[in-house]
Amino acid sequence: MIYDPYSREMQHDPYPTYRRFRDEEPCHYNPKMDFYALFRFEDVWEASLDWQGYSSRLGHDLSNRDQPGEPGVIISMDPPRQNVLRKLVAKGFTPARIDSLEAEMRATACRLLDPLMDREHFDIQAEFGKKYPMEIIGALVGFPEESREMFREWSDLALSRDPDTGQQAPGALEAGVKARDFVREILEERRRAPQDDLMTILAQSEYQDTDGQTKHLTDAEVVGFITLLGQAGAETTAKLIGNALVYLSREPSLRQRIWDEPHLIPQAIEELLRFDAPSQFQGRTAGRTLEMHGVTIPEGARVALVTGAACRDEREFDRPDTIDIDRPRNRQLYFGQGQHFCLGKSLARLETRIALEELGERFPNYAIDEDDLTRTYQAHVRGFATVPFRPQRQA
Ligand code: HEM
Repeated sequence: MIYDPYSREMQHDPYPTYRRFRDEEPCHYNPKMDFYALFRFEDVWEASLDWQGYSSRLGHDLSNRDQPGEPGVIISMDPPRQNVLRKLVAKGFTPARIDSLEAEMRATACRLLDPLMDREHFDIQAEFGKKYPMEIIGALVGFPEESREMFREWSDLALSRDPDTGQQAPGALEAGVKARDFVREILEERRRAPQDDLMTILAQSEYQDTDGQTKHLTDAEVVGFITLLGQAGAETTAKLIGNALVYLSREPSLRQRIWDEPHLIPQAIEELLRFDAPSQFQGRTAGRTLEMHGVTIPEGARVALVTGAACRDEREFDRPDTIDIDRPRNRQLYFGQGQHFCLGKSLARLETRIALEELGERFPNYAIDEDDLTRTYQAHVRGFATVPFRPQRQA
């Protein structure tokens, strides 16, 4: 039994395999790809809280052995530097600050959804699920409106994997470079003409470094940070919206319940995140020799914390394979935990709540052409590429 996160089978339905690993081999070594993986909730939880033992310094890509993360990309960094940089933008992502964006977000959702009202059949991911989160994060960070779609396409491609080889998809590397070049150009403009956006705030911010010196972020750090926010902000939320539409269409009585009682939408979102976590695993590097379930993980080895498996662990959740929006909400892992706890979780929750409210308002009886659903083949992100959508159920 081998866990290959990039295989077609795993991207299609990883859950039976995850169950086998949780039960039979909770600490697994993949000799072909040379990494270890943890599947149980408790293990992923503890590892997420132990950043010294499970370092982020080599990022999420499990094939990376020696390249430190790009400057400014806090998800591929450890404290103390990660703390310093994270604090610089954390102020922009507090629940209060995010709540203040609600009216703007709703206007964006309506602007994208209204033209779809008269259409009979379309791909809701292309028309809304992918566009809307990019519009929101693009406006926050300061991407010009006309370039947001292009940035999203590059981000999509940069994360893509070939399902047959598990290698980066053709053009993925170049797409990542293009995305960063694009951000670099906007940064140059902002340095000349500051605006009211996160790019300008980061470009101008001063901070006290770990050596006590007051410093500014370098251009490379601002570019890395903004590219990360753009990608992290758009990719995962798009997957969540697509998942929500598909899984709710499979549970019509639950769907009707949340349309009738919209105050239940937030708890439905939490359950959908648990049921199919958009970010399926978090890449780490062993910071010391670790012992897990009788397996020795040597210092320096790559380790996957398999969030997707942890969120379905029957040791933590009753009937984990059932969508139950009333289940008690205790510990959760779909936004990570500990040092790298998702910076954009309030934004993602609010965005998705507004999306579902507006979708429910317009298309309460929508249907999905299940046979034509397609999945993305991406690194750690899992979700639908296309979601063929019919606003009205056919008679
Ligand atoms: C449904 C949507 C989302 C999901 C499921 C999600 C999931 C995650 C997870 C699992 C992590 C932890 C990574 C790790 O431990 O290595 C993370 C970190 C992060 N997320 Fe999100 N995320 C979502 C939306 C967003 C949004 C909208 C933003 C935009 C600002 C964002 C920005 C970030 C950043 C910057 C980090 C890195 C934080 C750090 O390293 O300190 N995420 N996210």
